[in-house]
Amino acid sequence: MAIYFNPETKFFYLEGKNISYVFGINRTGFPEHYYFGTRIGRDDLAYTYEANIGDSAEAAVPGKVHAGGLSYNVYRSEISFFGNGEFRECSIQLLQKSGSRLNEFLYETHEILSEKPALAGMPSMRGGETLKLTLKDKLSEMRVHLFYTVYDDVSVICRRMEVENRTDEDVKLLRAYSFVLDVVGSDHDLLTIENAWAREGKPERTPLPHGIVCVDEKSASSTRRHSPAMALIGKHTTEDFGSALGVNLIYSASYTLKAEVGTKGYTRLTGGINDFDFTWELGAGETFATPEAVLAYSAEGIGGMSREYHDAYRKYLINERFVNKPHPLVINSWEAVYFGCTPDRLIPIIDKVRGTGIDTFVLDDGWFGSRRNDRSGLGDWTVSPEVFPDGLKPVIDYVHDAGMKFGIWFEPEMVNPDSDLYRAHPDWAISVPDTTPCVSRRQVVLDITRADVRDYIVEAVSKILRENEIDYVKWDFNRAVTENFSRALPAGKQQEMHHRYALGLYDLCERLVNGFPHIFFEGCAGGGGRFDPAILYYFPQIWASDDTDAYMRTQIQYGTSLFYPLSAISCHTSICPNHQTERTTPFTTRADIAHLGATGYELDTTKITPEELEEIKTQVAEYRDMEDLVLYGDLYRMENTFDSNYFAVTVVSKDKSKAKVTAMRALCRPNDEHKRIFPRGLDADALYEVKNRDYGLCLHLTGAAIMNVGLVLPLKTAEGKMPGDFKTFVFDIRMER
Ligand code: GLA
Repeated sequence: MAIYFNPETKFFYLEGKNISYVFGINRTGFPEHYYFGTRIGRDDLAYTYEANIGDSAEAAVPGKVHAGGLSYNVYRSEISFFGNGEFRECSIQLLQKSGSRLNEFLYETHEILSEKPALAGMPSMRGGETLKLTLKDKLSEMRVHLFYTVYDDVSVICRRMEVENRTDEDVKLLRAYSFVLDVVGSDHDLLTIENAWAREGKPERTPLPHGIVCVDEKSASSTRRHSPAMALIGKHTTEDFGSALGVNLIYSASYTLKAEVGTKGYTRLTGGINDFDFTWELGAGETFATPEAVLAYSAEGIGGMSREYHDAYRKYLINERFVNKPHPLVINSWEAVYFGCTPDRLIPIIDKVRGTGIDTFVLDDGWFGSRRNDRSGLGDWTVSPEVFPDGLKPVIDYVHDAGMKFGIWFEPEMVNPDSDLYRAHPDWAISVPDTTPCVSRRQVVLDITRADVRDYIVEAVSKILRENEIDYVKWDFNRAVTENFSRALPAGKQQEMHHRYALGLYDLCERLVNGFPHIFFEGCAGGGGRFDPAILYYFPQIWASDDTDAYMRTQIQYGTSLFYPLSAISCHTSICPNHQTERTTPFTTRADIAHLGATGYELDTTKITPEELEEIKTQVAEYRDMEDLVLYGDLYRMENTFDSNYFAVTVVSKDKSKAKVTAMRALCRPNDEHKRIFPRGLDADALYEVKNRDYGLCLHLTGAAIMNVGLVLPLKTAEGKMPGDFKTFVFDIRMER
């Protein structure tokens, strides 16, 4: 049993693989947090309360006297509301008919559920024992339900909140966050992720000052500027050592996550749906559910925290139909021909990769309506007779005859003003009446908060999927939401827009992704503009960035892997000079870096050399041979090109019998240092064979030697030449005994 309640002390103990989460109901009836960290026993933690007694705190421990003052400001909270002496960030605020925003939610009852209740309308983790804690407002009939889910085999705890209006009046939610957690200590560092187009995934580590630091998205797309993720880490925490406490929201629209260092030695983490430009009318009898937050803890550093997330998402989040299975290995038409995807240009590209092991051809943007460039046609999901006079069938048959599967690109949520759809339904685009909507990439966003708009999208996309033998879909989303107004909503509900956008998106996904269960869906958003756990719930892989430059990819994929498993990170080998940076990197380097994820190719194969074409065959075979590591291995990050001239990671199988080390020296320098890298995660006592394909290297070493003595990156090529810039070194490691 993972959840235990002690009726005498009123303490709850929630236990995951290596974690304990403890809180108790204090004398006021308020749920107070005691501990989240490395697994401990079911001790009575009331003794820690003494340290928490402030000038005005109410005591939870018998014998202490209630000072009658500002108690809530020193409580370590499981929920937090404003107006009762709490001055830190609150997790809930309600505007009541009288104008009052005062509530006081106290323990009423609880249930321990072996079946995790589904979260209606939103993705969430599957399974896990769940505690439902019900709190009642002292001042009204409002209820709050706090949900906590733990798992035996991963060190995460899922949290979310439901607000139930049992009064007979409407109330307005001004804020409804998913969780609040007060962590011991006021000297943590905060780890967040900065995103921008073509340079997503940059980790940022900063010491926390007193006050509030937050990441905050207002674009209704989760990773345009930040990620819905942060980690509180110890001052001395590294990749391998020290405490790391992560939070990641299963949400795709506008959110905020906050870290607040208080004055009593605690740091508060809280957040959820962004309450900037958010209100929600909660009618009598209605319930509002927040998205789920996934909290992870590891004492094995940032890397340990990442591995907890990777395991948790592979086991309990990613679509069970596709997780743990080889992903399609694609050739994508975008960087090959961009909008010029005519059969006469595509057929030679397909011919070239025949027999290489590439198993899926993806027809990207440009196949429909008048979409010959980004100016027109978006939203008109009919095959262009101009480009495909005989429909898609001949190309699809050609691809299938070549032994490959067929994939296709959609951008279901968008429309070009120059399109038949927009001309027929200008009011379907998100806009304020009598104003011109803001255009980005020459397109506007469809109002998917509306059921009629969603019905159109589902039918238009389904028709193509029904009428053609399609095995794979790339679902794009190339701009942010603006105007934030739905013509279908009354004035009082306009600030519900962004959350309703998320709910509309999940409805579309339910109907399209789950409506075509044989099709493999990839998520995309102008590169990595919407890379979050909710998207991952539907899409087993997500295009991480429009930047396919191998050097940039070492950074983008490094940062993305902080929270997401390698199998979720879509990575392609492209042509050089690279289209985004004009940088030239070796062909092998591009493939080696693209092999640290769900791999594929995105280039005009008619323009590569016969040697490169031969290399593709070897690369595909090597990838398939080690793909199990990408699918369910443990990732250890060793070096990154943010901090050094090197990139290095180890990916190890769970049983430690097999590993791959990928390293890169970014810039080649004459007379360079004798660089060693130190792989991680091996069995110290086992004997391994270590091979490097380029150098004909074959060593027999113990795991202990590999990890502690390290592996040497050669200074020259096997032919004795200077290796040039961006040279990768891949070590294939197999256990001998
Ligand atoms: C976005 C995607 C690209 C490509 C184009 C097509 O930018 O990230 O991969 O699909 O759209 O317009």
